[in-house]
Amino acid sequence: MHLAPSILAADFSRLGAQVAEAEAAGVQRLHVDVMDGHFVPNLSMGPAVVEALRPHTRLLIEVHLMVEQPAKFTAAFIGKGADLVIVHHEVLEDARPLLSEIKNRGKRAGLAINPHTPVDVLVPYLPMLDHALCMTVHPGFGGQPFLADSPPRIARLRQLINTHNPKCDLEVDGGIDARTAPAVLAAGANVLVVGTGIFCNPLGIAAAIRELQALVPS
Ligand code: DX5
Ligand code: ZN
Repeated sequence: MHLAPSILAADFSRLGAQVAEAEAAGVQRLHVDVMDGHFVPNLSMGPAVVEALRPHTRLLIEVHLMVEQPAKFTAAFIGKGADLVIVHHEVLEDARPLLSEIKNRGKRAGLAINPHTPVDVLVPYLPMLDHALCMTVHPGFGGQPFLADSPPRIARLRQLINTHNPKCDLEVDGGIDARTAPAVLAAGANVLVVGTGIFCNPLGIAAAIRELQALVPS
């Protein structure tokens, strides 16, 4: 299991320190949520944030592009140091050319689906995907409650991944914390995005991470 803290929930005035604390606690990735005010009704971060973090962390940086025109931005994020670029199925008639472009630039390519998108739309893409992301909230804001009908979708996606490309990661994103994580892990997720559950946890960042790590025997 990999943990991918979503920096959207971090204290931006202390971003470097908070990322360092998460890294020291043993997370494997950083999740950067990019919102354009069109695909989702909110604005967030651009390539400058990846550029600022890159020299300060060895973690894999994954960029989740919640934008209407991902093809416009992938090269910029890769140029600033993103290791994995995740684009949304809903904005692409055929995701293959963009996924190939990301891979041709030597980076990992991921495809995300919203809660209302049927999981089976991913089948034609799975052989070329490094990463499949199943949203467990409607994208746009951190701190939303986990959608309770998500586990069967995750289980179906796990089945499809095992059939078509077992090396593909299955990530879940939205409302994940120590209370909701057991159900997504049981359904077959192997990468958990956690924003509020880590950066806004009253236990503190390191203790929140330890609590999540303890859910999976190492
Ligand atoms: C939602 C984002 C998520 C979100 C997760 O639009 O894609 O990555 O920041 O945050 P929490 O864990 O607070 O739901
Ligand atoms: Zn995200």
